[in-house]
Amino acid sequence: MRGKRLVMTVCSIVAVALWSTAGWAAPEADPLKPRVPDAERADVRKMKSPITVTPEIIAKGKELYEGKGTCINCHGETGAGDGPGGMLLSPGPRNFTNCKFHKKRNDAELHWIIKNGSPGTGMPALIKGGVITEEEAWMTIAYERTFWKDNE
Ligand code: HEC
Repeated sequence: MRGKRLVMTVCSIVAVALWSTAGWAAPEADPLKPRVPDAERADVRKMKSPITVTPEIIAKGKELYEGKGTCINCHGETGAGDGPGGMLLSPGPRNFTNCKFHKKRNDAELHWIIKNGSPGTGMPALIKGGVITEEEAWMTIAYERTFWKDNE
């Protein structure tokens, strides 16, 4: 019994040390697996963004990402999924610099997630929750796409 208690004590010390280490974050859940439910995905993918992406729209998207939309708190300033709020979440927030992820998803799928959230994760339903509007979500997507590095 003493041995077991010792193991448990050591485990909790390691756990506390991990949590208090700045920069430690839970990994993302597989970013290539679809998030929109199977039954809706084909229809959702047909939806087109009503906005034309221009430098002005991207600038508005940045403003929303860093301000009203609160995206920066979890997804981080450089979109790497390392914002301070995201550190507490498991699975971790999406890393928007991932080129494979951007190639896999179309804008409509990203919009669906911003509207409905990603069930079972810390990604909130930001449109349904009244944080941003449908149109503002399309703008944040335009900005989000600029984090994409052709790294794969
Ligand atoms: C409270 C933390 C939090 C905030 C705030 C947040 N996100 Fe997320 N986001 C997450 C997490 C966690 C995930 C990963 C969810 C998953 O693995 O299914 C995620 C995933 C995503 C995805 C990926 C969906 C996919 O198809 O895989 C998109 C797009 C996204 N967020 C956009 C945004 C935008 C845009 C904002 C701001 C308007 C925002 N998020 C604000 C935590 C957050």
